[in-house]
Amino acid sequence: MVDDKLRTPGAVRDAERWTAHNYHPLPVVISSAEGAWLTDVDGRRYLDCLAGYSALNFGHRHPQLIAAAHTQLDRLTLTSRAFIHDQFADFCRELAELCGKDLVLPMNTGAEAVETGIKVARKWGYQVKGVAAGQANIVVAEGNFHGRTTTIVSFSTDEDARADFGPYTPGFTVVPYGDLDALTAAIDENTVAVLLEPIQGEQGVVVPPEGYLPGVRQVCTERDVLFIADEIQSGLGRTGATFACDHEGVVPDMYLLGKALGGGIVPVSAVAANADVLGVLKPGQHGSTFGGNPLACAVAIEVVRLLATGEFQRRSAELGERLRAGLEGLVGKGLVGVRVRGLWAGLDIDPALMSGREACERLAERGVLAKDTHGSTIRLAPPLVITEEEIDLAVTQLAEVLAG
Ligand SMILES: Cc1ncc(COP(=O)(O)O)c(C=O)c1O
Repeated sequence: MVDDKLRTPGAVRDAERWTAHNYHPLPVVISSAEGAWLTDVDGRRYLDCLAGYSALNFGHRHPQLIAAAHTQLDRLTLTSRAFIHDQFADFCRELAELCGKDLVLPMNTGAEAVETGIKVARKWGYQVKGVAAGQANIVVAEGNFHGRTTTIVSFSTDEDARADFGPYTPGFTVVPYGDLDALTAAIDENTVAVLLEPIQGEQGVVVPPEGYLPGVRQVCTERDVLFIADEIQSGLGRTGATFACDHEGVVPDMYLLGKALGGGIVPVSAVAANADVLGVLKPGQHGSTFGGNPLACAVAIEVVRLLATGEFQRRSAELGERLRAGLEGLVGKGLVGVRVRGLWAGLDIDPALMSGREACERLAERGVLAKDTHGSTIRLAPPLVITEEEIDLAVTQLAEVLAG
């Protein structure tokens, strides 16, 4: 019997009635959250094992971030880049220092950071590398996910993301992910950049073979090509290091950052690179009304300061080992594959058992929220403030779901 006092069914219906169906959310309606926990409109509590696709690395409503937002709301929220505001330089300097780069270009969403990276690489190609006009090419990987703009979906290999959105932007060559020979062979005199996720998140937390990223770094250096690392989902503590590239000691020419940079409060993205790269942009050639706004910068400064302590990277590395141990114990018991880096896991469920969607629905009924990616693969990315007991809870509930 349906309990007619529950608010969830009506709220789900209303949401479906009034929105384009470009998402297929789980039927939960959240009204408040704190740390790693969410509460729905009917008072049910859920352990958040998605963390806003890593936008909530520091948990919901981290006190230091909320305090910074409140303070800034009472002072100044928007100027546009026509003027400079008093949070701007601190944000850019502190983020540049965290990245070990000269300069930062702030934007809002991840896709905008990717678009910025593409534009900068092309201009760099024409003005610095000397590529012939209109010939610049960027090498990307199969299975990539870099966002949803028309240019970005032009080089997606996911038909859902790409089909019927043409005509497509030219200038991209797609190679298999993790295959250094194929990537090397795709580079020619017109190649300005290689754009990669150091770990492919949407594809199911796919970690490339050891040595791949250093190999990409080397070939980019040798062939005068920019290595652009899209760390929008993998970066800022998620994998147990500040950047996923750090695990192999790789420093790209450009970091693309987003998601967690806004502390789960405001959209903040950025490109970080050295002056010989980002310096190619001149006034009027790129920008955004909201990019680098005072509220965004005030929150993001605190995000950078949280990361500068190293505490979240440590938590992610240590707790990630507990998550790994728990999940590996389920291989053969409903899971057919597990990939873990820090507090980030891709789980392949035996397709004979259930789809990823079904698994997530059943987990939700048991008070754990996660998200399927493709087919029978789900991804776990809890906030980095999650505790050992909460990790154990998530693993136990998953085990119960898999046991049917
Ligand atoms: C690696 C990566 N790049 C770019 C994006 C796009 O970010 P946004 O949705 O903020 O545009 C995402 C989003 O999931 C992502 O995972």
